[in-house]
Amino acid sequence: MQNDNKNDKEIQFNYAHFDTSVPERKSGTAGINKLSVSENVATLRAEARAKQIPVADDETLGFLIALAHAKNAKSILEVGCAHALTSLALAESLPSARVTAIEKDENFYAAARENLGKFPNRCSALCGDAADVLLSFKDGSFDFIFLDCAKVQYIKLLPQLKRVLERGGVLIADDVLLNGWINGEVPPPAKRKMLVAHIREYLDAVTDDGELITSVVGIGDGVALSVKK
Ligand SMILES: C[S@@+](CC[C@H](N)C(=O)[O-])C[C@H]1O[C@@H](n2cnc3c(N)ncnc32)[C@H](O)[C@@H]1O
Repeated sequence: MQNDNKNDKEIQFNYAHFDTSVPERKSGTAGINKLSVSENVATLRAEARAKQIPVADDETLGFLIALAHAKNAKSILEVGCAHALTSLALAESLPSARVTAIEKDENFYAAARENLGKFPNRCSALCGDAADVLLSFKDGSFDFIFLDCAKVQYIKLLPQLKRVLERGGVLIADDVLLNGWINGEVPPPAKRKMLVAHIREYLDAVTDDGELITSVVGIGDGVALSVKK
């Protein structure tokens, strides 16, 4: 995502990692992978990007859709959904899946609700901090979770995410290579060292966890794919 007015956007989106002083990391396969979504979703994504609304990159969304089909996902959760365009794409692609999307920003939530209103019987948007909303779900409620909220929150949310994920379910955390700062491709700016430490802590936790099988994949800005044993 590019933004000329970084400070305004940091305030507006409360984005700890929003920093356009460095180019966004592009994976080596970004030019090969092609995203297949409906014209409606493609248009909404383009419009959101034009307004600098955060949207998952094409390669990452394509990966999520493929993975959700491989998993035959029936109960999907998106944590940090912005306008819920990833949830909408997943809902369109998997007609028998229920999709729940959490967003804490009230304006984004309003847009998410409207977008998911296309499938009122199986999609819902919830407004609130994921740390609170996750507590309201029963154990094993979801078989597919896309984690894409504030990156500093990932490690804090992990215990609840594991609890609400069913056995055999998948947890995909986005942006875990964050501009190449995490794996040493690009040195992180000094002011982002804490954020880098939080993401590393998350990666250490999911790769060391005996209840999870985790693989970090270098597409988009990096995703960590964890399967609950
Ligand atoms: C990268 S954007 C989401 C993009 C979206 N997942 C997509 O694929 O289009 C991150 C979103 O998470 C929201 N967010 C950040 N921290 C959150 C939290 N603790 N609980 C709920 N939402 C949060 C932000 O308001 C922002 O809209």
